[in-house]
Amino acid sequence: MAIQLSHRARAIKPSPTLTVSSLAKKMKAQGIDVINFGVGEPDFNTPEYIKEEAKKAIDDNFTRYTASAGIIELRRVISEKLLRDNDLHCDPEDILVSPGAKASIINVLMAVCDPRDEVIIPSPYWVSYTSQVEMVDSFPVIVPTKASAKFKLKAKVLDQTLKTLSNPKALILNSPNNPTGSVYSRKELTEIAEVCIKHNILIISDEIYEKLIYDNEKHVSIASISKEVREHTVVINGVSKAYAMTGWRLGYCAGPSEIIKQASRIQSHTTSCVNAMTQKAAIVALRECDGSVTRMREEFELRRNYFIERVRQIDNVTCIKPHGAFYVMPNISFYLQKNKRGIKTSVDLCEYLLQQHHIAVVPGSAFGADNYVRFSYANSMENIKEGLVRFERGLLELLT
Ligand SMILES: Cc1ncc(COP(=O)(O)O)c(C=O)c1O
Repeated sequence: MAIQLSHRARAIKPSPTLTVSSLAKKMKAQGIDVINFGVGEPDFNTPEYIKEEAKKAIDDNFTRYTASAGIIELRRVISEKLLRDNDLHCDPEDILVSPGAKASIINVLMAVCDPRDEVIIPSPYWVSYTSQVEMVDSFPVIVPTKASAKFKLKAKVLDQTLKTLSNPKALILNSPNNPTGSVYSRKELTEIAEVCIKHNILIISDEIYEKLIYDNEKHVSIASISKEVREHTVVINGVSKAYAMTGWRLGYCAGPSEIIKQASRIQSHTTSCVNAMTQKAAIVALRECDGSVTRMREEFELRRNYFIERVRQIDNVTCIKPHGAFYVMPNISFYLQKNKRGIKTSVDLCEYLLQQHHIAVVPGSAFGADNYVRFSYANSMENIKEGLVRFERGLLELLT
């Protein structure tokens, strides 16, 4: 008889972004010319100065277990970075380095959440938040945001939601946002922080797209608003997106000592530490020696500008301008309602676009927003141009 899986394992759905990507890869392997807009990673290579440092670490035999929370030189560099970029005073002891920001978030959730605690997640949301909250036996409380509010959570709505909950524990806030590209202003963050303090909940502030901001907008870390807010916030960040280092696996969290200490203990019994050479490489990455972050950001901005202008030319598609990250989320509700092919959901639409028009796009339902699809523009300009031609053709064909 087969071994019964745990309730946790049974509750977890596969990441839809990875599902789309793997289907697209399979079609590519069959020789089909698929343009993949599903991936959530920069298409650039890791800058040379970072790779050199990792090679040196291997040659120097820096290849053993490290302190579970991360080597102290790296935590010092992160502490300097938090002060320089985010106006945050954070002791290296209050920083935990983990195998990716994804691991940082679950470590924090494990450190603070009890079964049946409630964690607020504004939608559209990054796919892993809900699954991670469920993995610690807590409840995700989804609070929808509106396109007219640029998909940003309003403090008043947060306050009203919190009043209805029995065990509110945390809010997961993500600015710049995946999938919407929204960036919260200092004023908006201040209002949200006031509500979180009033209800005594933790803010888990995912700032992984911090370096990818356009239109002269500025990233504000909510933790920098005041000492009191800092005491209620764990900042999540990492090297994946800013330095094109997704496969290296390094993220970190910084926050109140007790939470970080407990999250470190948890990590010491699971992954132990981030691999030693990645930690060395991250030290130089965070010092940003060669301007590559700026160059990547500028290239993303050009692509976003083209994307937005072109996608808005498609009949009956609306799209808010994202100010950060590398995603665009067009509203395709017209085509869900008016098509003659029985396509009712964003999943149906994405299957159709992949199979008939050879573009891989993530269904909005993965982010709690079925009237949308998400494109990642971490792709060449050539692919973006051709992909949008296919997208338009695919949508228009639905009406015939
Ligand atoms: C909003 C958000 N947070 C965290 C992560 C995870 O980053 P990491 O590669 O550091 O685990 C991602 C990756 O897609 C993301 O989009």
